[in-house]
Amino acid sequence: MGIAVSPIQIDSNASDFISKPRKMLIDGKWVNAASGKTFPTYNPATGEVLAQVAEGDRADIDLAVQAARRAFDSGPWSRLTPSERGKLVWKLADLLEEHIEEFATLETLDNGKPLTVARAADVPLAVDMFRYMAGWATKLEGTTIPISVPYTPGAQYHAYTLREPVGVVGQIIPWNFPLLMAAWKLGPALASGCTVVLKPAEQTPLSALRLGELIMEAGFPDGVVNVVPGYGETAGAALAAHDQVDKIAFTGSTEVGKLIVHAAAGNLKKVSLELGGKSPNVVFKDADLDTAIAGAASAIFFNHGQCCCAGSRLYVERPVFDQVVEGLSAKAKKINVGPGLDPTTHMGPLVSEEQLQRVCNYLEIGMAEGAKATSGGRKIGGKGYFVEPTVLVDTKDYMKVVQEEIFGPVVAAIPFDSPEELLPRANDTVYGLAAGIWTKDISKAHRLAASLRAGTVWINCYNIFDASLPFGGYKQSGWGREMGKDVLELYTQTKAVCARL
Ligand code: NAI
Ligand code: MG
Repeated sequence: MGIAVSPIQIDSNASDFISKPRKMLIDGKWVNAASGKTFPTYNPATGEVLAQVAEGDRADIDLAVQAARRAFDSGPWSRLTPSERGKLVWKLADLLEEHIEEFATLETLDNGKPLTVARAADVPLAVDMFRYMAGWATKLEGTTIPISVPYTPGAQYHAYTLREPVGVVGQIIPWNFPLLMAAWKLGPALASGCTVVLKPAEQTPLSALRLGELIMEAGFPDGVVNVVPGYGETAGAALAAHDQVDKIAFTGSTEVGKLIVHAAAGNLKKVSLELGGKSPNVVFKDADLDTAIAGAASAIFFNHGQCCCAGSRLYVERPVFDQVVEGLSAKAKKINVGPGLDPTTHMGPLVSEEQLQRVCNYLEIGMAEGAKATSGGRKIGGKGYFVEPTVLVDTKDYMKVVQEEIFGPVVAAIPFDSPEELLPRANDTVYGLAAGIWTKDISKAHRLAASLRAGTVWINCYNIFDASLPFGGYKQSGWGREMGKDVLELYTQTKAVCARL
């Protein structure tokens, strides 16, 4: 089966944006790479080049870090009141909201996701993140602390803490939710008063670059946000290692997360990591099965399975296993796979040729090890990076397709017999990002939620995200939490002040 591509009218602002080579944002100016080099970003629905983008490397990262340093150490940014800072972040949210169609189109062109999804989820969630974080700018408070000091009898002190921004932050983000990941990172950094060098993924640099334009339009001072596109091994590695960067925030593979930790050791910069997952999604026989089947499908097929929290290990209580697998496979077969711009598309292409190869490679390994596909199982021929939504059965817990993150629309459906037998198997992974539970028994659900080693547990729902809900990983799924109040801990540090009265 091939993908039929019909010509579709695209948003004219988005087509204007990709019609020119894109520069990088350093110190409030749009500039070429110091090397003069550019790199192509591709449309994954066709495999064709969308636009050329300035290719940042060490020299550009260095200029960007110096700009961020000046803006933090002595620029107008550090003299703004919290309220003024909050207003700028809110203004950015308003501007983004005014450009929903343009941003949704850029996401679809660059990443491949359906336009209907980018419009309903990616862009509105990014807007909401900036609004939520704008409110925090005025609420980062310290405390007053009564102290005793036994070795200075009779002395009185006034002691308090200040919450101060951590400084210059390097942010490295992935390609699965390009704009939303930029918002998750920029929102708390700006609300807390940090300055930023943002490196978008080389597969999807466009929406972060357009966001850079809105950041300047909103009125952020020069150098507060710098956007340097480029490859991970060059620009990303230079940012992670830079000794004038105070903190690095990374989202991506666990493998690169470990490289970031090593690179950060040089100046012991703070590190936060949001990494991979192999999340268990558990369906009990007493669940509302129609809802659970639909939920299991969206847990793995949303964003083509390119979600760090994808419900990629589906554990089903044995008496309902066949029914759930049948229902899920029927749903998988009904998914319209096609170009994201086509309004009838449910699932677009994978982001890149490399990602397609990786997913197909896992499918081959899984089949060779004895797994069977009850739906899908193959790549879809023709132009673009399309793969069939796939349900695997007959897996063993030790198999690669059960242990490793595939990051594609591939779920392993696995029967279990009791909660006691399930729990160690569900936790038998190096990851610990998310989990799902489907049951009508609330006690059973909450008991299991407490025992699963995962940063997020969804009960009778999946992939529910909110700006106020902390998200992040146990074990090798990461360090720290994104979003909510928790993320602000990662962008601020405590200063204790003690005065003798
Ligand atoms: P990746 O981890 O290589 O890329 C993520 C970001 O890190 C990109 O901006 C990239 O340029 C940068 N990067 C790469 N190498 C770097 C280095 N040495 N130093 C600093 N920055 C570096 O992920 P990739 O190769 O795109 O995808 C591979 C696998 O990673 C996927 O199949 C998936 O399993 C996982 N992944 C997980 C994501 C998540 O949301 N947790 C997002 C993207 C990928
Ligand atoms: Mg692209």
